[in-house]
Amino acid sequence: MDWTNLLEIAETEQKRQKSIRVHCCTSTGCRAANSLSVKQNLDNAVAESGLGDRVEVIGVGCMGFCGRGPLVQVDPEDLLYEEVTPENAPSIIEALDGGEAKPIKGDSQHPFFSRQMKIVRQHTGKVDPERIEEYIAVGGYQSLYKALYEMTPEQVVSEIGKSGLRGRGGGGYPTGLKWATVAKMPGKQKYVICNGDEGDPGAFMDRSVLESDPHLVLEGMAIAGYAVGADHGYIYVRAEYPLAIQRLQKAIQQAKKYGILGSQIFESPFDFKIDIRIGAGAFVCGEETALIQSIEGKRGNPVPRPPYPAESGLWGCPTLINNVETFANIAPIIREGAEWYVSIGTKNSKGTKIFALTGKIRNNGLIEVPMGITLREIVEEMGGGVPNGEVKAVQTGGPSGGCIPASLLDTPVDYDSLNKVGSMMGSGGMVVMDRETNMVEVARFYMEFCRGETCGKCVPCRTGTVQLYSLLTKILNKQATKTDLEKLETLSYMVKETSLCGLGISAPNPVLSTLRYFPQEYLELIQEDSLNSKVTV
Ligand SMILES: Cc1cc2nc3c(=O)[nH]c(=O)nc-3n(C[C@H](O)[C@H](O)[C@H](O)COP(=O)(O)O)c2cc1C
Ligand code: SF4
Ligand code: FES
Repeated sequence: MDWTNLLEIAETEQKRQKSIRVHCCTSTGCRAANSLSVKQNLDNAVAESGLGDRVEVIGVGCMGFCGRGPLVQVDPEDLLYEEVTPENAPSIIEALDGGEAKPIKGDSQHPFFSRQMKIVRQHTGKVDPERIEEYIAVGGYQSLYKALYEMTPEQVVSEIGKSGLRGRGGGGYPTGLKWATVAKMPGKQKYVICNGDEGDPGAFMDRSVLESDPHLVLEGMAIAGYAVGADHGYIYVRAEYPLAIQRLQKAIQQAKKYGILGSQIFESPFDFKIDIRIGAGAFVCGEETALIQSIEGKRGNPVPRPPYPAESGLWGCPTLINNVETFANIAPIIREGAEWYVSIGTKNSKGTKIFALTGKIRNNGLIEVPMGITLREIVEEMGGGVPNGEVKAVQTGGPSGGCIPASLLDTPVDYDSLNKVGSMMGSGGMVVMDRETNMVEVARFYMEFCRGETCGKCVPCRTGTVQLYSLLTKILNKQATKTDLEKLETLSYMVKETSLCGLGISAPNPVLSTLRYFPQEYLELIQEDSLNSKVTV
């Protein structure tokens, strides 16, 4: 496979594609709403209508508006249909021949779509994730070719550094810096790991990227391997994501068949293979050191850092570990250049971020937005606000994040601004809460999650999460005193300051942020006779 072959595949595929493409979402969310039967009936309708020479039905990845699935979108007219059933699906095909479509017509120009900026999800919902030819037809694997033939590994690292890309797995560590550290480590054997564990409750951004555009992630990993000097990559995905695993397996096989993965990629001296490792669904296994232990076949417990995986990771070798969305940004950056990427976002947060917008909100689903957009724009314009109510808070960052009150809805969504208001970007969970939501219950929900997910290795987290959960329960049962409330705060800081890994360090965040912004809700639950001394929260 060389450059000419790559272009030939793209051209052949473009010629093969029919002029009208009916995209039917076959990702997990829509599958649960029977989209496979919808697709079957669309296929049957095309066959029966005799339109097969100009119409084709494509099973595609998540279009984002999962709450209204199954979704069907028709190009080139850009018609959107929502909540399509197997029964009314054929009328979409009849409409192409002058009939009147009966399914609910969606609005593809709705702010939910029009306010998005798609870099990672640019082909999602438009290409069949199970056919590498479709990915190649939209320019897929050209960035890998460009990296191998037009750039040195140092230039690739420098380009990623200049782009300002930061890790999308939660911490926001500068990607270029991490790549540079691995690249300069001595040693012949290095590894690349893609972290697709995604254990945050309510989060499904990475699953969607893997299900909808697996080749984009593989291409990013291969470019990373070339840049840091690794010949072997692993993708760690949880067993609860069977469709993502199946599509990744297919994508790896197809890339190998074309000589895009394996030995002497694109007839260059660069070798790179990718294996999948399936996790058992423990939140802590998303923590990088625990994940590495798990790949090594050990119990997924975190280990102290330093040394960081970049210095000593998988089997003691320098290891680059990045999140799914981080890798999915690589090919677009190499293709368009770092200068293009830095023009998007804010001073310290470049590019876009995918969020899983859920909770008490009219329009829920996946959105990709430029960094710097405000929470208000997301919640009110794109999300359509709270049905029959008002926003009370927005939770970002999952169990490690915090609750931001409605009074701070004008906060820009970027790493620094979210940290400043006591929350964090996290991996992309965004839960909207209305006035009916009890914030103490919210804090307890996240603490219950952490209590169940602590690996138990260190005392502050193992026993601290249990104690914090008990205190929150006592408060909710109206049995707590003012002293308990003070204990809740002191213990939160103690767990934060003394835990070994990020799980324990961030577990108290939902408690501290709700104490900071909604103290009244706690005080209302405290026994009245204990309320004579001043609260310091
Ligand atoms: C408890 C815990 C769970 C984590 N889960 C994930 C995860 O599911 N996916 C992920 O990419 N990073 C997760 N992280 C962060 C990883 O440790 C690591 O920082 C990340 O994979 C680095 O990739 P990035 O630089 O591209 O963000 C988790 C961290 C902690 C403490
Ligand atoms: S902080 Fe919690 S999850 Fe992390 S090592 Fe300690 S006990 Fe395990
Ligand atoms: S799963 Fe179908 S739109 Fe998201």
